[in-house]
Amino acid sequence: MTTSTPLTQDELKALVGQAALRYVVPGDIVGVGTGSTVNKFIDALATVKDQVRGAVSSSVASTERLRAIGIPVFDANEVEQLGVYIDGADEIDGQGHMVKGGGAALTREKIVAALARQFVCIADESKLVDTLGRFPLPVEVIPMATAHVARRFAALGGQATLRLKDGQPLVTDNGQHILDVTGLSITDPLALESQINQWPGVVTVGIFAHQKAQVCLLGTAQGVKTLTF
Ligand code: A5P
Repeated sequence: MTTSTPLTQDELKALVGQAALRYVVPGDIVGVGTGSTVNKFIDALATVKDQVRGAVSSSVASTERLRAIGIPVFDANEVEQLGVYIDGADEIDGQGHMVKGGGAALTREKIVAALARQFVCIADESKLVDTLGRFPLPVEVIPMATAHVARRFAALGGQATLRLKDGQPLVTDNGQHILDVTGLSITDPLALESQINQWPGVVTVGIFAHQKAQVCLLGTAQGVKTLTF
């Protein structure tokens, strides 16, 4: 009998990053997300970079990585539509709804996702959940609205905490702050996303239900599983 060592989370991320290449159409501009799983996708993209016309990126960090491997990065305003957007998630449910923003890039991620015909989520199996809400929900807010938005979450039973970096409020690529909200059980992601979107001072809520995934490449001990929604 042979025994094999289970793949590490990092190896699962590399597996799905590689698997995402099959959604990249030669000659196209590809939408590229942000995070440690997407970094594996960018590594894989380097091996086919001559077949890719360019990318629209969802963060300064991904832009730097893409440029470092020689892939041209287009401004989102230069592109009317993308065939595919490839990004990770902090949580994904059985319908393709996601929580995103653990890397603070949620606003640009939602914008690039909105440009794409297809959202392909790449994730290791720890991200698949029955109900969204275990991972603290990231919300990008205009700094003067943080206390007000936190009170609105408290009224829903959530506890909002200002995200810090080096002891100071984290400043996003867009010059805003992030609240991380615990204590929410997101049973109706579409409705909650719509509701929070109405609150003054909210730039973006990290629920991706209106911009959900159509495909999830899930890294599991048995290999890459393809879920479609
Ligand atoms: C970035 O803001 C996030 O939305 C990421 O997509 C998400 O946090 C997943 O990141 P990892 O691939 O690093 O887990």
